[in-house]
Amino acid sequence: MIDIIEQKILNLSEELFDTLLKDRTTQKNICWATECYISHGKSYYPQEPILKDLITGFNTNIIHPRAAKISEDKARRTKDKAEVFTPSWICNEQNNLVDEAWFGRKDVFNISINNTWITNKSLIKFPDNKTWKNYIDSKRLEISCGEAPYLVSRYDTVTGKEIPLEERIGLLDRKLRIVNENTHNEEDWFFWTKRAYESIYGYEYQGDSLLLARENLFYTFIENMEYKFSHKPNEKQLKIIAKIISWNIWQMDGITMTVPFSERSREKKQLSIFENIIENDYLDKEPIPCKIYDWRANKSIEFRNIIKGGKDI
Ligand SMILES: C[S@@+](CC[C@H](N)C(=O)[O-])C[C@H]1O[C@@H](n2cnc3c(N)ncnc32)[C@H](O)[C@@H]1O
Repeated sequence: MIDIIEQKILNLSEELFDTLLKDRTTQKNICWATECYISHGKSYYPQEPILKDLITGFNTNIIHPRAAKISEDKARRTKDKAEVFTPSWICNEQNNLVDEAWFGRKDVFNISINNTWITNKSLIKFPDNKTWKNYIDSKRLEISCGEAPYLVSRYDTVTGKEIPLEERIGLLDRKLRIVNENTHNEEDWFFWTKRAYESIYGYEYQGDSLLLARENLFYTFIENMEYKFSHKPNEKQLKIIAKIISWNIWQMDGITMTVPFSERSREKKQLSIFENIIENDYLDKEPIPCKIYDWRANKSIEFRNIIKGGKDI
């Protein structure tokens, strides 16, 4: 089942669901930032926040992955926001190039062949000057991530076909494979899994795709725990991972590096209280620059400052 039902996450915990809807820069919820849902009413307009009541209960099953959207919606999204998702085999080839540069050799995780791949099943070996822990900590970013197919590959975003955990090719999937291969108890596993999540970033404009990306990373965690230890994570572990995801997979207009619709009209400000109260129509139109979190330095930073400084994240 590629389509995660939002109600299922809400049933796990309300706090968890709130976290997955949070915009860490504004401290409000992420917004729709797409016109695809306006037929459902004013609360679904692009500038409005995605609230849990709008996508659960009677409204459950409103948000679907692109592969399950109707073709009219797909065409509109392609026209409005250049939304065309990359097939998994292409994500895999590009991710293989990233790893080729890191490891200094080809075909580390799999061999790409005929628009698919054959997974290398033996333990991954590391170069003499690097350790598996260095690999977990090395940072990766998917720009304009959509449903984040370069980070996690629970399903092929084009065909919707599910991909079994051992065959996955995302940048985070690869890190989690390394954690699964190199840790032997739950405490170590969770420590390094958490660090893997802390080193993976992605941003997206449209709120529904962003939520799907977050859900995909969240379920990837649950699936890996079940794969490694044959049980589900506890609520504390789920909350820790959800918090990291809500920081690292964020809503941003990549052109302005600001929060979409954060420049919308706020309350009117009263500047003068003389005879006639003059209400000023001044509207705060400054868009808010997005903040992300540097987990190793333990502080938030404005994304645009990293770009200006030319430093890697
Ligand atoms: C071609 S799709 C790629 C999605 C995904 N990375 C993939 O490869 O399947 C482009 C994505 O960019 C997003 N996008 C368009 N304009 C954007 C902007 N100004 N800032 C951030 N994302 C944007 C769209 O919503 C869409 O999800």
